[in-house]
Amino acid sequence: MSTTTARIGTQRAGGPTVRAWSVDPYAAALRAGRGPLFLRRADGWLLPLDVERWCAEADAADLEVLRHCEGAVLDVGCGPGRLLTALAAQGRRALGIDVSEAAVARTVRRGGQALHRSVFDPLPGTGRWGTALLLDGNIGIGGDPPALLDRLTHLLAPGGLVLAETVPCPDVDERVLVQVTDARGTPGTPFPWARLGTPGLLRHAHEAGWRDEGHWTADGRCFVALRTGRATGRR
Ligand SMILES: C[S@@+](CC[C@H](N)C(=O)[O-])C[C@H]1O[C@@H](n2cnc3c(N)ncnc32)[C@H](O)[C@@H]1O
Repeated sequence: MSTTTARIGTQRAGGPTVRAWSVDPYAAALRAGRGPLFLRRADGWLLPLDVERWCAEADAADLEVLRHCEGAVLDVGCGPGRLLTALAAQGRRALGIDVSEAAVARTVRRGGQALHRSVFDPLPGTGRWGTALLLDGNIGIGGDPPALLDRLTHLLAPGGLVLAETVPCPDVDERVLVQVTDARGTPGTPFPWARLGTPGLLRHAHEAGWRDEGHWTADGRCFVALRTGRATGRR
């Protein structure tokens, strides 16, 4: 397990993380519908970002995740909106939020509903969402999975569900500073990010009182369903 501790902020609109995802090269990659695009760790290691898949239609593994959705769905870090398009086609009420204007614009163009907000900003429907999606590594948002899970506890209705994607290496539990880069131009502003395998996510979730509702793999990707133990109350 590698743990590089990064100072975690709440990533309100205008903060460094928001700026990091708001500018090129992420916006340029979304406009083009393709990479190359990476998260660059301080040690130079490049984590490829699957922009082509995010800009395509939801695939079989995505649709399997969406089959678990309950109630109204909040897609946290919705990117260009393939999941929202699929949810809309199923007639399910869903909203995406993303700190990237380019991502929100692309989502809206494909018929999804999305707001240009951080998950840590005040959000509509607080305390009433049935399901929160954290796919494509978005459990990493904020670089502090327990803080993100705590935030979702308050966004979800009592007994609400989180559907999260973890990294396929079980031992990974990593908090790092990264930059978005196309590996050609100057990388963007560093911001905190986390990567978690399924055992690490379950460990954090159990400590915070979440219930394990199952985990599975599809097309080489790993997913976890967690149910909040919160009975009542809103924030
Ligand atoms: C790894 S990408 C995932 C892409 C996405 N799930 C999709 O379907 O295309 C992370 C996404 O989260 C967004 N993001 C990063 N920090 C965020 C925050 N604090 N609140 C909301 N979205 C955030 C980024 O702008 C980016 O679109």
